[in-house]
Amino acid sequence: MVRAEILIWVSCMLIASINVVEAVGVNWGTMMSHPMLPYTVVNMLKANGIKKVKLFDADSWTVSALAGTGIEVMLAIPNDQLNHFSRHYDNAKHWVKKNVTKHLYNGGVDIKYVAVGNEPFLTSYNGTFLKPTLPALKNIQKALDAAGYGDKIKATIPLNADVYSSASDKPSDGNFRKDIRDLMTEIVQFLHSNNAPFVVNIYPFLSLYGNPDFPVEFAFFNGGSKPTIDKGIQYTNVFDANYDTLVWSLKKAGVPDMKIIVGEIGWPTDGDKNANVQFAQKFYDGFMKKMASNKGTPLRPGHMEVYLFGLIDENMKSIAPGDFERHWGIFEYDGKPKFTMDFTGDGHDKLMVAAKGVQYLPSQWCVFKESKNMSLVPANVNYACSLSDCSSLGYGSSCNNLDVNGNISFAFNMYFQMQSQDVEACDFQGLAEITTKNASVGTCLFPVQIVSAGERIRSVAGVNTVAVLLMIVLVLL
Ligand SMILES: *[C@@H]1O[C@H](CO)[C@@H](O)[C@H](O)[C@H]1NC(C)=O
Ligand SMILES: *[C@@H]1O[C@H](CO)[C@@H](O)[C@H](O)[C@H]1NC(C)=O
Ligand SMILES: *[C@@H]1O[C@H](CO)[C@@H](O)[C@H](O)[C@H]1NC(C)=O
Ligand SMILES: *[C@@H]1O[C@H](CO)[C@@H](O)[C@H](O)[C@H]1NC(C)=O
Ligand SMILES: *[C@@H]1O[C@H](CO)[C@@H](O)[C@H](O)[C@H]1NC(C)=O
Repeated sequence: MVRAEILIWVSCMLIASINVVEAVGVNWGTMMSHPMLPYTVVNMLKANGIKKVKLFDADSWTVSALAGTGIEVMLAIPNDQLNHFSRHYDNAKHWVKKNVTKHLYNGGVDIKYVAVGNEPFLTSYNGTFLKPTLPALKNIQKALDAAGYGDKIKATIPLNADVYSSASDKPSDGNFRKDIRDLMTEIVQFLHSNNAPFVVNIYPFLSLYGNPDFPVEFAFFNGGSKPTIDKGIQYTNVFDANYDTLVWSLKKAGVPDMKIIVGEIGWPTDGDKNANVQFAQKFYDGFMKKMASNKGTPLRPGHMEVYLFGLIDENMKSIAPGDFERHWGIFEYDGKPKFTMDFTGDGHDKLMVAAKGVQYLPSQWCVFKESKNMSLVPANVNYACSLSDCSSLGYGSSCNNLDVNGNISFAFNMYFQMQSQDVEACDFQGLAEITTKNASVGTCLFPVQIVSAGERIRSVAGVNTVAVLLMIVLVLL
């Protein structure tokens, strides 16, 4: 009797944890100067039990690495290709053949979705992608249908939560943005008729970042801030309120039961006063607990499908929106986990499994050589920062407390590492020198770069060429 109960309890726990892990996917972006090998990243996903990934393109090396893993994949078409696919159906057909069908052999890649564009209606794009997006979506879905995969693979458009808003702080006043309301209505009805989901990116961090009066606790999931009351429903966090604003907007567009996927959600760890490991951990702890409870939101209780943003820090992302853009990873650039993550939601925080087999460049740094004449410094620091990543130096960031010399060294080192430690990249008109003494200062990390995937492949290819030449020489002898 007791044993049976334990058995039932254990299997319930197992089912609960499996559910969470399967519902939570990750975004795998690759805008970094030194990416790990796709195969290394895929093994890291597997080691952490991550079962879904969302990509930002259809890079064949990356997609092939996912074959046979059972990991569900969302491929993507970048915004700058939307015109190409909106213009001719044949372009879409060709893309599906080369980038989808190719991977769908027995034991191949489990492709579930194709993202057509990425947040194409951001107001900062000034309407550039308003015209081509829907025609591109239709052409891609038509091509998927024609290839015989229409039931299994759905085309959709990941959209930023700025495509809708509420006239008040109440979700029930929500609707799609006025300038795109007709277009959004057409899009959601097309998606709905095709059984495709609405994919939305929701960022509590940005609510806090963009509004100095925003109540901090409302960005998290622990309660502790004044709830918003809407038609008798209490909203205790901005995520639920935002999500339900979308639910209301969909209702008003005539598709009240449309499936919603959260395409991106996460918290950055550097580059702003609210972007740090403590806050990120607090956010993910609360969010994972919510996912584990299958509570959903007040208007959509139950199971929810989400993709965390993002998997790995990306040092080449644009920092136009803010320095935090390069620090969204739940893993560092070298595949080390940043914090514990509770993928079961039952309070069992575990450090995630780091990437294995990552190769580092030599343990050396490029630093400022003290100089009496500082007149050349500003131009050299600007040069270094503009071509590398100084996003950890700003106010509230991990390296903001460096002294003047430390600042200069940080910039020089970032450039040197990003140039794969090329000796000539550590000169700066004679202001810099290479050292083997770890230049990190307190919590400010002066990183040593890793050998990037491209370089590793080139060096292996080089070795192979030498081997082949040797063989030929031996045979000739
Ligand atoms: C496949 O997708 C990639 C990335 O979007 C793109 O560069 C490539 O041109 C596509 N291949 C074809 C044949 O369209
Ligand atoms: C949008 O317009 C603004 C202001 O005119 C301009 O600064 C920005 O570069 C434009 N962005 C794009 C993507 O065209
Ligand atoms: C500092 O260096 C600059 C550029 O080499 C030079 O023009 C300037 O005269 C120097 N200043 C002093 C005080 O040596
Ligand atoms: C270091 O650089 C950062 C970013 O440019 C700046 O905010 C900070 O004031 C600098 N610190 C010193 C001591 O110059
Ligand atoms: C340099 O020191 C930092 C901080 O102590 C440490 O995290 C990092 O691993 C060290 N780097 C190397 C290459 O030893």
